Amino acid sequence: MVLQIIAIILSYLLGSISFSVVLAKLLKGIDIRQHGSGNAGATNTLRILGKGPAVLVLALDVLKGIAAVWIGVWMGGGEAWVPALCGIGAIVGHNWPVYFHFRGGKGIATTIGVMATLSFLPALYAGIIAILLIVVTRYVSLGSLVFVALTPVFLLILGYAWPIFWTSLIICLFAFWRHRSNIVKILQGRENKIGSGGPKGG
Ligand code: G3P
Repeated sequence: MVLQIIAIILSYLLGSISFSVVLAKLLKGIDIRQHGSGNAGATNTLRILGKGPAVLVLALDVLKGIAAVWIGVWMGGGEAWVPALCGIGAIVGHNWPVYFHFRGGKGIATTIGVMATLSFLPALYAGIIAILLIVVTRYVSLGSLVFVALTPVFLLILGYAWPIFWTSLIICLFAFWRHRSNIVKILQGRENKIGSGGPKGG
């Protein structure tokens, strides 16, 4: 039990490494949370730092999610709930990072890593639909929300175990909570489109 709790704490600490914050500081000496949408994530990195750094942040944030689930597998003693809770821990760390005054991102890249490791096919199917939606609408936030909403649906359709379904539902709730301002802006037609320059408002 102690080892399993340590695994979850380690995952939270790993998730708390905010790569967009670190990279923006290193490359431009700025706090990315005071620029663009104010979000510490790959989409805002694209706006503020460009394509190369954005791809790097995306990859590292996805890797955090993958690594957290594997920490849970290695330290979980065969208990299925440990990798799932480690994944949630990494996403919580990304969203509310202990090293950066609890002001982080919206958790989508880390969610991709977590869900692709816990349940590859549901994440893949949801991801394909989300990417198509982003290409058509150019709203990354809409694609992100559709991804987290569809993953539990595909888990049900494909008959995955209930603990993974509940995990994905909790992750989905986190994502919708973190995208509150994006949802309002989408409804008002003010959401920033990818590739259209800076965001309209914070
Ligand atoms: O994953 C974050 C994305 O869905 C929205 O980012 O910066 O446009 O709020 P942003």
